[in-house]
Amino acid sequence: MEPVIPDLRAAPRTLAYAKLLEMQALLLDGSDDTIAGMATVSALLHHAFGHLWTGFYRVVEPGQLLRVGPYQGSLGCQEIAFGRGVCGTAASERRTVVVADVHDFTGHISCDPRSRSEIVVPVFDASGVLIAVLDIDSSVPAAFGEADRDGLEKLVAWFARATYVPVPV
Ligand code: SME
Repeated sequence: MEPVIPDLRAAPRTLAYAKLLEMQALLLDGSDDTIAGMATVSALLHHAFGHLWTGFYRVVEPGQLLRVGPYQGSLGCQEIAFGRGVCGTAASERRTVVVADVHDFTGHISCDPRSRSEIVVPVFDASGVLIAVLDIDSSVPAAFGEADRDGLEKLVAWFARATYVPVPV
């Protein structure tokens, strides 16, 4: 039986991410499957913090197109082009993007009108190839800060060790 994901909404963010990193290491010990990794990270983050949407967009056409992968929450948009929205910007610029108010982000793609703030983190494989972005939406303005950037970048570093990358269909 798998452990229950703790509610970490009231915990200091740095401690919360340390706990999630510990759980990730235990749950994914011996695995190198990126889809299993994406599903597990999405569940850990979504249930620990109770965000609106937590999930991955996978690179299906390098430099061109992202397609939705494992996620938790309300329905996500199916595809996003590189350079479009927050996800496409993080992908094309290969950097974490933190948005305090999505209404102030030119070209923001609204999949759920309740979204108010967002953070998107690029995901690289062992050779530094961009394989996906991790996207989290909150219904609260300015929900994400430096502790989230640091904690999420540490969580997605796991994928730089994973070797099995599914072939986009
Ligand atoms: N808001 C994102 C699109 C994905 S949804 O948030 C799940 C964007 O602007 O790229």
